[in-house]
Amino acid sequence: MKRVTLIKGDGIGPEISEAVVKIIQAAGVEIDWDVQTAGADVAETEGSPLPQRVIDSVKANKVALKSPVTTPIGKGFRSVNVQLRKELDLYSNLRPCYNLPGIKTRYDNVDIVVVRENTEDLYAGIERQIDEDAAESIKRITRFASERIAEFAFDYAVKNNRKEVCVVTKANICKLSDGLFLDSARNIAQKYPQISFREILVDNCCMQLVQNPNQFDVLLLPNLYGDIVSDLCAGLIGGLGIALGANIGKDYAVFEPVHGSAPDIAGQNKANPTAMLMSAIEMLNYIDEREAGERIRKALFATLEANIKTADIGGNVGCKEFTEALISRL
Ligand code: NAI
Repeated sequence: MKRVTLIKGDGIGPEISEAVVKIIQAAGVEIDWDVQTAGADVAETEGSPLPQRVIDSVKANKVALKSPVTTPIGKGFRSVNVQLRKELDLYSNLRPCYNLPGIKTRYDNVDIVVVRENTEDLYAGIERQIDEDAAESIKRITRFASERIAEFAFDYAVKNNRKEVCVVTKANICKLSDGLFLDSARNIAQKYPQISFREILVDNCCMQLVQNPNQFDVLLLPNLYGDIVSDLCAGLIGGLGIALGANIGKDYAVFEPVHGSAPDIAGQNKANPTAMLMSAIEMLNYIDEREAGERIRKALFATLEANIKTADIGGNVGCKEFTEALISRL
């Protein structure tokens, strides 16, 4: 039986992870879940929001499914998510964004894959307070990390029959840091003549995404722009409740939805488990449970097509009812 780390998170995390574990079990996949806790409550009892045992668990099992964890805003501990990605060197953040059946959105046939660098940029956490009225953050970009994420994006494009990789920067302003990211992408692009290569500035990219998203295929971005643009892309296909994500490194992979812990709806049976479920389907593919993943995807699509949806995507059922309806279609 495959052992997988399950980080239940907080906010809506416990509700959506319970739903997903139930669905996977109903699909007949036997997983030995190594349940781990992290976040603010854990920080109080164990002194750290991300105790070593969580990292050791992912290292031992090689793969994890993770629910969102709240990060204090403007103060408090460093993001558990950022720390985990850094500790396990999960350098690529993959966020495929495509229309799902039964969810009406402004544009049809959106099919964009966001590849976000996951270890550096402003997320390196190099910040300092100069004095009471001034603070600065260092935007760290290296050729090593930039070339390795570019390689991941082009490799992904080749393996998944994509046509184009478009690198997104603000290299006209951040000439050195974004300039280095761009230069690294240009270098790697030369090794993949079969994939078209395009360059765009991040502000124009946002405008183009909102006006004509169908022109984009694979987007390659440094950490911060990748975070923001992937939420924009989630908005194009119906919102955060359905946007899946994966953090992949050389040795380990952590699958998690794009969204956060949604404290505004936590504990009210309102959360949409779809994003977490779609992330779990990618996790099943990763551990060679493709057939079960495909059956779950079909049941999910059939549920949405039957107009059984949570409120965030225009429906009126709760997380539990949605889960039951999906299980009955497996
Ligand atoms: P959020 O993604 O939690 O919520 C934004 C909006 O989308 C809210 O209105 C929320 O109700 C809605 N939403 C999100 N997921 C949903 C779902 N599954 N079903 C239905 N509606 C959903 O973003 P927010 O409010 O900015 O962040 C809340 C906390 O989450 C913060 O502490 C943040 O640091 C953390 N966060 C954690 C992430 C992670 O663990 N990977 C990623 C992003 C944020």
